[in-house]
Amino acid sequence: MQTVILINLSYTLAAVLFILGLKFLSHPATARRGNILSALGMLLAVVVTLLDQSIIDYRWILLGIVIGTVIGTLAARLVAMTAMPEMVALLNGFGGISSLLVGWVALAQPDLSNFILLTIFLSILIGGVTFTGSLVAWGKLSERISGRPFLFHGQRQVNALILLANFMCGVMFVLYPAQPLWLYLAIVLSATLGVMTVMPIGGADMPVVISLLNSYSGLAACAAGFAISNNILIVAGSLVGASGMILTNIMCKAMNRSLGNVLFSGFGAPSGDDDKLEGEVKSLSAEDAYYILEAAQSVVIVPGYGMAVAQAQHGVKELQELLEENGCEVVYAIHPVAGRMPGHMNVLLAEADVPYDLLLEMDDINPRMETFDVAIVIGANDVVNSAARENMNSPIYGMPIINVDYARTVFVLKRSMASGFAGLDNPLFYKENTRMIFGDAKETVNKLVREFSA
Ligand code: TAP
Repeated sequence: MQTVILINLSYTLAAVLFILGLKFLSHPATARRGNILSALGMLLAVVVTLLDQSIIDYRWILLGIVIGTVIGTLAARLVAMTAMPEMVALLNGFGGISSLLVGWVALAQPDLSNFILLTIFLSILIGGVTFTGSLVAWGKLSERISGRPFLFHGQRQVNALILLANFMCGVMFVLYPAQPLWLYLAIVLSATLGVMTVMPIGGADMPVVISLLNSYSGLAACAAGFAISNNILIVAGSLVGASGMILTNIMCKAMNRSLGNVLFSGFGAPSGDDDKLEGEVKSLSAEDAYYILEAAQSVVIVPGYGMAVAQAQHGVKELQELLEENGCEVVYAIHPVAGRMPGHMNVLLAEADVPYDLLLEMDDINPRMETFDVAIVIGANDVVNSAARENMNSPIYGMPIINVDYARTVFVLKRSMASGFAGLDNPLFYKENTRMIFGDAKETVNKLVREFSA
């Protein structure tokens, strides 16, 4: 009796740590603390569960914790910041396959009720979809497979049939649990469904897909929690499921697209009706840009994925300080989907110790964009693509962007005229007040810093 109370108290404490962790994760200043609290909660939950169930010898538990810690620490240390979304995709996939396996072994329990059988089936269905879907997302993000949407006629109908067949297997499995065929079929169909539903989605939408798969992995864990009657797994799974869904919703809103559009529109497939952009592209050297910056009273810096690639954030911070010393007001404008993962720019700028209060959200900066002397776009493209505002034929028409073209002068730091992740031309580059400063963002920023320091 006492053990049961102790275990439930530990689970409650773990749940409180998860919830506090999530709360702290919602702000860059407290995110690290949030991570540590959640990890502590998970450690507590894992240790208490394993000790309680006396499933295996505790030495195996310790060995598992040590091996997991070594792999996790190495992976987190070695992975490049730009490869972080791929890593998250893989971790999601592992979450999915774990739930599938937990569901599967739950079959070994005695006296399986229909409800438990149903939850076993759900953990296999959702876990399987999450596993293979995440692997495809990982392949697309790491460019091991093409980021182009893979589309064919009747695709949705085929996917609907696979899902229907899977549900029928589920019904048969609940009715005849002793017959393993239905379970194996459900596993194969779920794995197939994961591949088939992510393949038609373009590489540019992978961060949304990952967030959605993250939510699925939570739901799968929740189902697995019911299957083995483990309260903390149910709580943790629900929290992951809900937070993944909230994040997915935030990203869709930031792109002004519905989830259905992300999942089914094949966004990123060549449309063949691109409007050719006309106008003159005016380039500028870093040396000439310096004279304009030296006279500027207010500057807004708009970072994007290219800043992450170039690892220019430390130079950017230096430039910010030099501008401030020169009497100029400097702020940063952060688009919610700049980069390749939620909070990508916040993380990079925090790494360079840029004060949080200088980071302004798109909705706060846009109304006062006209007041800035210079907007410096550093490796951003889609999030400042004025076609989203001006061209009704553009696939991103309606997506909220940072209106840098409303500033008096716009500097765009990038290496070429190449398009961003969405694969679209950007009319901003041809505007009267835009100057392209070609080159690697870090080198260009360093040149500007040198000019200021000279
Ligand atoms: P992008 O539109 O992908 O543009 C990045 C630009 O950086 C490229 O045009 C590239 O041009 C430039 N670049 C790359 N390496 C560079 C370097 N070393 N130095 C200078 N420039 C460099 O990035 P964005 O504006 O941040 O937009 C993010 C995209 O991801 C959007 O399409 C968004 O919808 C999508 N997305 C993001 C998320 C999240 S959560 N972040 C979620 C869903 C979708 P050059 O090759 O010419 O240098």
